[in-house]
Amino acid sequence: MKMSRVATLQFAAFQVLVVLLSVGSDYIPPSRFDGFVYENGSLNLLDTILIEAFYDPVCPDSRDSWPPLKQALRHYGSRVSLLLHLLPLPYHDNAFVTSRALHIVNTLNASATFPLLEWFFSHQEKFYGAQTRNLSRAFVIEEIVKSATKVVGRSYYNAIKNGFNDTKSDYQTRISFKYAASRGVYGTPFFYVNGFLLSDTGASIDYKAWRKIIDPLVGAKKGVNRNEESPHLYL
Ligand SMILES: *[C@@H]1O[C@H](CO)[C@@H](O)[C@H](O)[C@H]1NC(C)=O
Ligand SMILES: *[C@@H]1O[C@H](CO)[C@@H](O)[C@H](O)[C@H]1NC(C)=O
Ligand SMILES: *[C@@H]1O[C@H](CO)[C@@H](O)[C@H](O)[C@H]1NC(C)=O
Ligand SMILES: *[C@@H]1O[C@H](CO)[C@@H](O)[C@H](O)[C@H]1NC(C)=O
Repeated sequence: MKMSRVATLQFAAFQVLVVLLSVGSDYIPPSRFDGFVYENGSLNLLDTILIEAFYDPVCPDSRDSWPPLKQALRHYGSRVSLLLHLLPLPYHDNAFVTSRALHIVNTLNASATFPLLEWFFSHQEKFYGAQTRNLSRAFVIEEIVKSATKVVGRSYYNAIKNGFNDTKSDYQTRISFKYAASRGVYGTPFFYVNGFLLSDTGASIDYKAWRKIIDPLVGAKKGVNRNEESPHLYL
């Protein structure tokens, strides 16, 4: 008698847990992979070297690491792809809303995503904690909407504003956060190359460092191509 009551209680507790878990995570896994693809819009994972960058739009170190990475991407062209993930850090004020703006704009016009990221990078201080301390959340969002229209065009004003009222963009930004957490990313910038973390680099990774990392991989990739002779790679 006693045992079955315990079992019933346990079963009820389990059901409550299942309900709580399914309410808390109904958008995991997401319907599409997290991240913004740089320039070319789609990824051919097996044919390019994949760099994944985890950035926070209001993080100075992310900002500083972007020009050398961009230069490296330009150098390698179609041989290297970039998938950018956002990690809005809790200790950076306005990281979540600026990240959300990037998701909203990406949905409206994917080509404007990186230009908006660059806009945030060059006007970051506008959204730092000290500068926005006395401003309401609504005011800051309005500023972000106006900023985004500078990049995508005035005609998008209502669409971007509505985007902040749409739970979809909230979910997308949460998924970015959760994805970064699930990969063990705890700061920005973090870089992965072909799925592996670049250690000891962080913000200090400059163009020369990128060349040092990617050059050998590009060479190795060539060697795998059966049309090219590089027998030493098979030793
Ligand atoms: C984009 O794709 C085109 C065609 O595949 C390629 O020529 C070009 O180099 C790519 N650009 C970048 C930045 O990867
Ligand atoms: C999308 O954004 C790009 C980059 O800002 C811009 O050149 C293009 O005109 C935009 N397309 C539309 C349909 O607004
Ligand atoms: C915020 O308000 C306080 C009190 O009025 C003022 O001393 C401070 O300078 C303000 N800060 C900014 C960044 O406007
Ligand atoms: C956003 O939602 C709030 C509350 O539902 C509403 O008062 C406001 O007018 C909405 N704003 C826009 C731009 O749709």
